[in-house]
Amino acid sequence: MSESSPQVIDYEGSGYRTDFWEGQGRDYEDLTERIALRRLLLSRGHRVAHLGAGFGRMTDELGGYDQVIVLDYSRTMLRQAQELLGTSGRYVYVAANIYSLPLADGSCDAAVMERVIHHFADVPAALRQIRAILAPNAPFVLEFASKRHLKAILRYWLKRQDWNPFDLEPVEFVKLNFDFHPEYMARCLREAGFETRRRLALSYFRLGFLKRRVPLSLLVALDRLLQPTGQIAPYSPSVFTLNVAVGDTPPAAPDGSLFKCLHCGGVLHQEGDVMICANGDGRWAVHDGIYDFKEPLG
Ligand SMILES: C[S@@+](CC[C@H](N)C(=O)[O-])C[C@H]1O[C@@H](n2cnc3c(N)ncnc32)[C@H](O)[C@@H]1O
Ligand SMILES: [Zn+2]
Repeated sequence: MSESSPQVIDYEGSGYRTDFWEGQGRDYEDLTERIALRRLLLSRGHRVAHLGAGFGRMTDELGGYDQVIVLDYSRTMLRQAQELLGTSGRYVYVAANIYSLPLADGSCDAAVMERVIHHFADVPAALRQIRAILAPNAPFVLEFASKRHLKAILRYWLKRQDWNPFDLEPVEFVKLNFDFHPEYMARCLREAGFETRRRLALSYFRLGFLKRRVPLSLLVALDRLLQPTGQIAPYSPSVFTLNVAVGDTPPAAPDGSLFKCLHCGGVLHQEGDVMICANGDGRWAVHDGIYDFKEPLG
């Protein structure tokens, strides 16, 4: 990571899978996110990048693509993703920082990023990186945590919350955890070279007492019904967007190369377990099936 890169949250050694998902009463969130992703993204294609994929919770939704780039900053998460998804050639595991992507310009036909951007202090920088790896007209499904949701509005009106949910600036409610105003995110996406085509509102029923009392299938069905209202009025805590890469895209490598050198942008070739820059200024390791761009080899 270069010195000027914004701080990245550390999921090394994290119990995210077991502490947050497995048996933790979040089937409603998981199922409704899958519905949203299926609504927004074509189920088939050539190469898709799953950015901040974590332990691969949602990656199986991308199984119709010829190649899936499973990218995360945490090697722990990627090891768990390998256990879940296997090590067939279809999944390419990459340890890298989204602020500094080692993927070649225009190399991906689609990208998905859910439950990740809420960790980003510099959203425009991250979106510029993502735009650069996408081919012209490629879809980018982005989920973000919204600050302008009904519970936050109520809490603000009752003076139980000091930040204003209608204010456009992101709110950092815990270190490196942000909620965003939908209009702020729309502006950042536009400025990074994306045109937002669709918006879904999710998780209106993410409330403990409802989840305990109302059958899961009913909550999921109601969420499915409400999701399209996000196109005009997203007041939910989670928003899924379908964005399309517009404007100029530098030409992709003629041979379809996936990786680029983080120092000079040049082509990388693989020799055994090492990725080497053709210009001689960078080398990165491949460990047990993970292309590791967290730091260069000496
Ligand atoms: C809350 S988890 C979500 C994981 C997965 N998307 C899911 O929904 O289950 C956030 C993930 O984003 C990754 N992440 C955060 N900042 C990142 C960055 N700058 N580059 C790459 N991955 C990052 C973390 O390592 C973590 O696995
Ligand atoms: Zn180089």
